[in-house]
Amino acid sequence: METRTLTLHVWRQNGPTGTGSFKTYEAKDVNEHMSFLEMLDDLNEKLISRGEEEITFDHDCREGICGACGMVVNGYAHGPRERTTTCQLHMREVFKLGWTEVWIEPWRAKAFPLVKDLMVDRSAFDRIQHAGGYISVRTGSARDANETPIQKQIADSAMDAATCIGCGACVASCPNASASLFTSAKVGHLGTLPQGVPEREIRVRNMVAQMDAEGFGSCTNHGECEAACPKGISVDWIARMNREFVRAMVTAKDDVDARD
Ligand code: SF4
Ligand code: FES
Repeated sequence: METRTLTLHVWRQNGPTGTGSFKTYEAKDVNEHMSFLEMLDDLNEKLISRGEEEITFDHDCREGICGACGMVVNGYAHGPRERTTTCQLHMREVFKLGWTEVWIEPWRAKAFPLVKDLMVDRSAFDRIQHAGGYISVRTGSARDANETPIQKQIADSAMDAATCIGCGACVASCPNASASLFTSAKVGHLGTLPQGVPEREIRVRNMVAQMDAEGFGSCTNHGECEAACPKGISVDWIARMNREFVRAMVTAKDDVDARD
């Protein structure tokens, strides 16, 4: 089993209004089978035993599911391995690249205010979801799923969009800090399925409006979001959302004209 010593430059910032800076640590005996977060756990234990304050970072499932563990590793959102969250990144992947120094930063976007060190507040995503990420059904009386036949092609397409874990890597990697990939995945997931059709227009209008209100930037087709996305969400969903949005705005205008 290979072990190495790494020099880590970690962003330390004591709260949203504090002035942050990189602090350098020596991480000794990092073994190849550790995950990136386990390497930070180990460093934190050493910091605590020395009476120093541990590094704050977000995590939950450590299985690539919850989307909490976002951080920028040597300039890559979630680290250098494609389609991999930070919690699923193993140190052998870092060793393979020959990195001896690693710079670790939080997501940087106005709409994701920093909480502390590497942790940011991603509740802007929750508010986008609340604006339209639902379907109207009577709770407690859900119909059997098999009552609504859905072509496999459509189910597969909806599932592709539904794999978005809301991690925010798309925002962190975009030069405009755009949330278009996230929002389009949520709009696309529900809008593709028959159960989501009744709210299709209001959903896209409200979710796009909320995305803008949160202060995310515009999409200018860089494609960095798709490259950084651990779930491989395609930028095609952004094009679909834009078409859906134009359609919904035209429908809304027609409704107003018909009432006048
Ligand atoms: S689209 Fe990808 S990168 Fe963006 S929040 Fe969803 S899973 Fe994360
Ligand atoms: S901790 Fe849940 S995806 Fe990484």
